[in-house]
Amino acid sequence: MEKIVSLCKRRGFIFPGSEIYGGMANSWDYGPLGVELKNNIKQAWWKKFVQERGDMVGLDAALVMNPKVWEASGHLKNFTDPLFECPECHGRFRLDKLLPSVNNVKIESTVNKHDSEKEYYINQKDLIDQKLIKEIIRCPDCQKVFPDKMKFRFFNLLFKTFIGPAEESANVAYFRPETAQAMFVDFRQVLETSRKRIPFGIAQIGKAFRNEITPGNFIFRTREFEQMEIEYFIKENDWEKSFEYWLGEMYDWMNFLGLKKDHLHDLEVPEKERAHYSKRTIDIEYDFPFGKDELYGLAYRTNFDLKNHSTSSGVDLVYTDPESGEKYIPHVIEPTFGVDRSVLAVLTEAYCEEEAPTTKEGETETRVVLKIPKHIAPIKVAILPLSKKEELSNVAKEIHKEVSRNFFAEYDETQSIGKRYRRQDEIGTPYCVTIDFDSLEDKKVTVRDRDTMEQERIEISELVNYLKNKF
Ligand code: GAP
Repeated sequence: MEKIVSLCKRRGFIFPGSEIYGGMANSWDYGPLGVELKNNIKQAWWKKFVQERGDMVGLDAALVMNPKVWEASGHLKNFTDPLFECPECHGRFRLDKLLPSVNNVKIESTVNKHDSEKEYYINQKDLIDQKLIKEIIRCPDCQKVFPDKMKFRFFNLLFKTFIGPAEESANVAYFRPETAQAMFVDFRQVLETSRKRIPFGIAQIGKAFRNEITPGNFIFRTREFEQMEIEYFIKENDWEKSFEYWLGEMYDWMNFLGLKKDHLHDLEVPEKERAHYSKRTIDIEYDFPFGKDELYGLAYRTNFDLKNHSTSSGVDLVYTDPESGEKYIPHVIEPTFGVDRSVLAVLTEAYCEEEAPTTKEGETETRVVLKIPKHIAPIKVAILPLSKKEELSNVAKEIHKEVSRNFFAEYDETQSIGKRYRRQDEIGTPYCVTIDFDSLEDKKVTVRDRDTMEQERIEISELVNYLKNKF
């Protein structure tokens, strides 16, 4: 992980946020290469799941919605984590942080209501009796032993803000914790304007906010992140078939990102650990550098959301089948994809250190190469004149202009060619085009492949076509 974080900073993929002010914990900014990689992932996702399908339409909704949305969706009540406070140093922790073997769900199941205004208690002796813990819990910060009767509160993860100048409860609003709800709230308008029939889906890419208690592991868990989500509307009876189908589609996508099947694991989430709206959830976990953890999720949300929004808003969200006249509230299969976790998984999978020959005969060195799938690499082609001499750079700049019309291309004439190759390898550029003095005579350039390091001599007039065939 350290190597990936350091490469990201050094090469301009991802930097710590607000760094000149000493940074801000767990905030990250995507730099020039990071934004290209992230955009390429989002565009490829949109192409696969919206553009290339006849049964999907897109949406780009507001980040702050009417607070009634979060009441109806159950987030105001249920989107909580139990939080324990050390009576000595007043440090606040999730129980899984205090003791990794006990998960929050077991604690949540000990109480009926998750009221964030109230204090709750749990006895350590009970936990020992239930064999959930073996020894008395200590504070991870000050090491003081927690009292037998441990106090906790439910902490709501919704990100609160105020609309307008007065900071009073009537003006409280929330940044969306998932993009999903807008797809339910706008269901009727999308249905009427797009004239889609069930089964069909709504897709959205956008930011989500959660006041996470334990953010960390670089861009894996942050308080501000991006999601790519699909709400696929179906008839209730079709849910199992549709669930399997979408699991397959998600695996197709992960294959496209270059993630090896061996590094992916399906976790069938047990009932007690599922989100309040889900009747079946599979978390797709990936072998991140810090361990196996959730990359994406697939949930059967039943008609929970549409039903609740219909009741709460008073707007009828019943669907009428145009052929049979049958009326029902559609059920939903939800494949959800974290954008930032996609970036982290792609970088993890692509990072590679290997022995490679140097420009000196018989010598080798370790090269770092990001073997990012070509179609999502931030820079597709590097144009590298062998010398800064005007006669070469004039030709090279012309080539750069022509190639840039078709691909994201970078022009670089500084440092030795060996160093320039290494830099391009490290940022995952699939092709380097070198212009040398022979190019002036034979009108050819050398194209070097990132992965094989093989070089080919190509006619300048054929270069763009040659590259097009490679992508
Ligand atoms: N609409 C369903 C939903 O939001 P989720 O499992 O809570 O489900 C979906 O989140 C995906 O969003 C996760 O699989 C993960 O990729 C990403 N995600 C969730 N919380 C995140 C966080 N704090 N930081 C980065 N990505 C996150």
